[in-house]
Amino acid sequence: MTMGLGLLLLIFLLPCYYCVRGVEPANSAACAFSAVYNFGDSNSDTGGISAVFVPIPPPYGEGFFHKPSGRDCDGRLIIDFIAEKLNLPYLSAYLNSLGTNYRHGANFATGGSTIRRQNETIFQYGISPFSLDMQIVQFDQFKERTKQMYQDNINSVDKSRIPVPEEFSKALYTFDIGQNDLSVGFRTMNFDQMRATMPNIVNQLANAVKNIYERGGRSFWVHNTGPIGCLPVNLFYKHNVPPGYFDKYQCVNDQNLMAQEFNKQLKDRVIKLRIELPEAAITYVDVYAAKYGLISNTKNEGFDDPMKICCGYHVNDTHIWCGNLGTANGKDLYGTACEKPSAAVSWDGVHYAEAANHWVANRILNGSFTDPPIPITQACYRQ
Ligand SMILES: *[C@@H]1O[C@H](CO)[C@@H](O)[C@H](O)[C@H]1NC(C)=O
Ligand SMILES: *[C@@H]1O[C@H](CO)[C@@H](O)[C@H](O)[C@H]1NC(C)=O
Ligand SMILES: *[C@@H]1O[C@H](CO)[C@@H](O)[C@H](O)[C@H]1NC(C)=O
Repeated sequence: MTMGLGLLLLIFLLPCYYCVRGVEPANSAACAFSAVYNFGDSNSDTGGISAVFVPIPPPYGEGFFHKPSGRDCDGRLIIDFIAEKLNLPYLSAYLNSLGTNYRHGANFATGGSTIRRQNETIFQYGISPFSLDMQIVQFDQFKERTKQMYQDNINSVDKSRIPVPEEFSKALYTFDIGQNDLSVGFRTMNFDQMRATMPNIVNQLANAVKNIYERGGRSFWVHNTGPIGCLPVNLFYKHNVPPGYFDKYQCVNDQNLMAQEFNKQLKDRVIKLRIELPEAAITYVDVYAAKYGLISNTKNEGFDDPMKICCGYHVNDTHIWCGNLGTANGKDLYGTACEKPSAAVSWDGVHYAEAANHWVANRILNGSFTDPPIPITQACYRQ
């Protein structure tokens, strides 16, 4: 292309760039995200469930924060690497009442959250009462109350801890939820029943995005769900499985197929959403592919066996979870961390170790696994 034509195209595109926030010029500047608002489950909870129920014990957090940090990990989660990438502070959990700062965003995720409301308590199978619709209600309240505080002329100390009302439209809204809808499904439904619920689940996630759009949000970053069949917890109590139950990496085939079905429907729904929400920039992030890419290639990437659990004691039918006390062979035993968490994929059998989160974040945040293929720093541009 000649320089003249390039210039012409640029001039042609400019007015549109300003009116629809779209059509990203080549090498466009980084978006000025002033905040991140996150919705999700334990994959991105930075202290919510720990604050409202029982704190997550050591050795969780010891690898990076040197103490429990309300995260289901030895260190940082993908949402923390997102904050780092955008030069923003780590997100305080909305439900945490002490030591929080919401100037640059808030985190509504809680461990055990589902998209759909579930009719069970957290004391049964760990399902959080804060399903996605409740997280959105909390966000609405958060936004209204900060606006009210500004109208009430609050002091500068308070102002330094809450968002500037005008900045909600300049925030990045991130979602990582759906994994627990699958895990509830595996427990309570057969695969056909699960498939039948999928459009409704995906639609509820779309409604959450719409709700925020109607309140002025424009930039959305939506993670799909990971290969849930590859969580080492799936290997427990599985003694006589039929042939083909596991794939060659010991991932449960049927569970991963269901995750893929969810992801396919989510991606289709995101594509429709882009039409329904003409000013929204919605990035779909293939976390599944990134995580499976690591699990299927751990040796070359410098990681241990992906089915090895770094923290906790799981031998034969004795299971002492990370941070818990139990007995094995008649002796008291504490679920401690492995020697080298930096080579671990799985931290506790359900949640990824920081090293794996970092590996995945490095790949998803630069656009290698996103649709459209743009880095997170440019996720405000509608393609
Ligand atoms: C929970 O119970 C209500 C009322 O009985 C029902 O409509 C809803 O479908 C149930 N939700 C789930 C996820 O089972
Ligand atoms: C686990 O089971 C295997 C096979 O039955 C047995 O050889 C081994 O001693 C058991 N390990 C422990 C720590 O009990
Ligand atoms: C993103 O980073 C990964 C890991 O460093 C690299 O392999 C990949 O090529 C990068 N992708 C892009 C689009 O820059």
